Amino acid sequence: MQKVENTPKKKIVIFASGNGSNAENIIKYFLKKGTAEVVAVFSNNRTAKVLRRAHDLEVKALHFDREALYESDDVLNLLKDMKPDLVVLAGFLWMFPKKIIKRFPNKVINIHPALLPKYGGKGMYGMNVHKAILEQKEVETGISIHYVNDKYDEGELIFQTTTAIEAKDTVEDIAEKIHQLEYEYFPKVIEKLLFSSEDA
Ligand code: GAR
Repeated sequence: MQKVENTPKKKIVIFASGNGSNAENIIKYFLKKGTAEVVAVFSNNRTAKVLRRAHDLEVKALHFDREALYESDDVLNLLKDMKPDLVVLAGFLWMFPKKIIKRFPNKVINIHPALLPKYGGKGMYGMNVHKAILEQKEVETGISIHYVNDKYDEGELIFQTTTAIEAKDTVEDIAEKIHQLEYEYFPKVIEKLLFSSEDA
């Protein structure tokens, strides 16, 4: 059962590095649903638009540096206090630390703007992915949502869906198609992960 009066909301924490349109979409989706809430947005980039978007939607917006993520346990300790049900990487470009993955097994997921295992790995993010896909004259692309492990884009797949590439499509057209898929499916996949065990 998904919504019961007085049932505590599931907690989502988002990590993002830049624009944050997915983060905003996820925040708004669960604001409407009321079953879960994004309790914080973390960014490695102090000037990232995602922090402004979170702040404007009254979600805690936090910036961290390499030291806080990798060398000390500052970010890990903040997460432990927040007790998230799911940690969502939505356009997060740094390697996610092993110690956090270990502390939250099967609770860290990522979205990738291509059909993994193709077009994944270090350096494959955002427009770089779409450019490579156009150069290879692919006829379709899509999105992949997967669990995060200690290798870029190699964790177990949770969900994929595709979209066709037309001969006239530019890199921007592909990016737009991918974003539309992400906006439609990412919140629903998150919702399913948060609630499916309760439906069983
Ligand atoms: C999204 O398309 C996401 O799939 C991609 O970055 C974009 C972020 O957009 N992630 C990666 O490339 C990770 N390798 P947004 O900041 O507007 O949500």
